[in-house]
Amino acid sequence: MNRQRIVAGNWKMNKTFDEGRDLALSIVKRIGPIETLVILCPPFIHLNYLASVTKGIANVRLGAQNCHFENSGAFTGEVSALMLQSIGVEYVIVGHSERRAYFAETNELLAKKVDAILSHGMHPIFCCGEKLDIREAGTHLEFVSQQINDSLFHLSKKQFSKVVLAYEPIWAIGTGKTASPLQAQEMHAYIRSIIAAHFGDDLAFLTTILYGGSCKPSNSKELFSQPDVDGGLIGGASLVAEDFVSIVNSF
Ligand code: 13P
Repeated sequence: MNRQRIVAGNWKMNKTFDEGRDLALSIVKRIGPIETLVILCPPFIHLNYLASVTKGIANVRLGAQNCHFENSGAFTGEVSALMLQSIGVEYVIVGHSERRAYFAETNELLAKKVDAILSHGMHPIFCCGEKLDIREAGTHLEFVSQQINDSLFHLSKKQFSKVVLAYEPIWAIGTGKTASPLQAQEMHAYIRSIIAAHFGDDLAFLTTILYGGSCKPSNSKELFSQPDVDGGLIGGASLVAEDFVSIVNSF
């Protein structure tokens, strides 16, 4: 059994309703019957409609960009994991560096979100990654290890088997500066090794680890050809149907 290859599009805070509908329809139209799983992660307002667009398409799934860990209550402006699950969302991005930076999300808070997502039968896409100063100081492996340890290593093996990881070096996000295939491979292999040390070799082998950060049609093939890179979490290039589908097809 091989691990699942995934290309997920994180639209971030982009696209009005009409633009999002057109983008999703255009992507779905272009995707052939491939084995790679394609996950669309639009802003919340698109999710309900896109559930009807992606329904019945074997290799396309719906993802959210965030959730609250409580099921309901007085949390103005928030959307719960339970609500997402109720409209057919199957994946939720958690711990994106932009949420860590702009919304002060900590490793401990993310552990609660991961628990909520799993408890409703969905898959967390857990993001980790270092800032430039940490890479330059040479402590990036330890930094990422801490993020994973604090937010994911309380899970059981069964729970962890539902988690997708995404390594997104912050210095590569939206900067046009991609990690080299070797830099990505080094970190992905390291992440797999710490998963193996904690959960065992079999589960580590089956864990999907995505790369994110200025991934585009011109570099996705080389990145995805690395043995421990199982696909991508795509920002800017996921907003253009041709580019996104070209990345999907680069395996
Ligand atoms: P870019 O592809 O725009 O660099 O964004 C990556 C990202 O943050 C995906 O979650």
